Amino acid sequence: MSDDDPHMSSDDASSGQDPQGHVPDLMDRLVSLCKQRGFVFQSSEIYGGLGSVYDYGPLGVELKRNLREAWWREMVTSREDVEGLETGILMNPEVWVASGHVAGFTDPLVECRNCHRRFREDHLSEEQPDAERGEWQCPVCGVTGEFTEPRQFNLMFRTFMGPVEDEGSVAYLRPETAQGTYVNFRNVQESARQKIPFGVAQTGRSFRNEITPGNFIFRTREFEQMEMQYFVEPGTDDEWLATWRERRMEWLVGLGIREDRLRLHRHGPEELAHYAKEAWDIQYRFPFGWQEFEGIHNRTDFDLASHQEHSGKKLEYFDHEKQERYLPYVIETAIGLDRLFLVVLADAYAEEEVEGDTRTVLRLKPSLAPITAAVFPLVKKDGMPEIAHAIADDLRGRFAVFYDESGSIGRRYRRQDEAGTPFCITVDGQTSEDDTVTVRDRDTLEQVRVPISGLAKHLAAAMGGE
Ligand code: GAP
Repeated sequence: MSDDDPHMSSDDASSGQDPQGHVPDLMDRLVSLCKQRGFVFQSSEIYGGLGSVYDYGPLGVELKRNLREAWWREMVTSREDVEGLETGILMNPEVWVASGHVAGFTDPLVECRNCHRRFREDHLSEEQPDAERGEWQCPVCGVTGEFTEPRQFNLMFRTFMGPVEDEGSVAYLRPETAQGTYVNFRNVQESARQKIPFGVAQTGRSFRNEITPGNFIFRTREFEQMEMQYFVEPGTDDEWLATWRERRMEWLVGLGIREDRLRLHRHGPEELAHYAKEAWDIQYRFPFGWQEFEGIHNRTDFDLASHQEHSGKKLEYFDHEKQERYLPYVIETAIGLDRLFLVVLADAYAEEEVEGDTRTVLRLKPSLAPITAAVFPLVKKDGMPEIAHAIADDLRGRFAVFYDESGSIGRRYRRQDEAGTPFCITVDGQTSEDDTVTVRDRDTLEQVRVPISGLAKHLAAAMGGE
């Protein structure tokens, strides 16, 4: 992808609200659909919830798992030059000193002296651009001019290891998976006998004590990341950054995300993280504006050099051909699984008129859908449920299948449309005569008759044609 690509943007990342192209009130509708259909629930809901933590229900875990597996296939299984890794959420606290997170993973906070609520200074200044800090109005109590000077607030969650709760037993819940990869660089390289350039990928939970979480699962305090660190020879880093930027964008388009809702944003000097020489965001046009959901960073040798210095252990790579020893540079691709989940849902959500009725449909790419095929008997008699059960049992080993006999056939179709199920198989009166069933396509609403014996092939072909 070149710099004059239409996806490129160097605008400010937070370019305000632009719901055009999305169903009105999409976020409210998504939150409600997610709860009703079992995608996402508020954490500890019966106790009034917990600030910005969410649980994934039966359909949600499947969509999330499909996204995670698609990422893993793309980044690890289909490549010779990337290895997988899974490291602990808890690490030696020195890791976070070396990485710069103890000193620098902070947000500037101001407090309203009237209601004692705290806000991110940068958020208030974005929201009230024409006013000085001394004139800002508190978004909660409405009082003006009562904000304190900003104080740095560390976003890492602290806990204690072992029975004694003192400074010597402090541990942190990791705020990114990347550091677990850096400290294992030599372990992976030597055990997998990889040569530079090569990558190490991992998926897993990260935690950040965000001050202003929000927009449903967009910014939460507990979330899952899918990160890949690609170790390269210094001097080749610019080229590798461009390569990975292009590959990541292609993968997202391949997931079915609309291209006109995707763009790249290059970090200006004031946006760059402490470790980055160059960084790009992949942004999606959410109903609440353009926002980042994946980052591609040139982290140079910042992390390896720092861990080498703090641990006293050599982390250099020895290039046998060139007989040279050096610290590799790192190109990182980092995407939030929960944010990707929200992108995919927001992009797939549609409401449309069908035969005088409004239907809600999730046009998910079939391989991502939590249920691939739903199987229905047209009515609960004449042997139809037995045949439908037998079909569901037969397909279940190869596809995610759901059996449903309750309610009218129209209602059953609508429920599956809302779940994003690409195919509905119905056993009807003709089935007992010629062993065929109807297969309804979620998007075209077309129904074709298919022999029961050919169903698996039909579904596989329909899925493979993506
Ligand atoms: N290792 C680099 C790193 O962590 P980041 O841009 O801070 O970079 C990477 O995070 C991705 O993790 C983001 O693009 C986003 O998708 C996800 N992410 C970060 N903070 C998040 C939060 N509070 N809630 C949900 N996802 C988050």
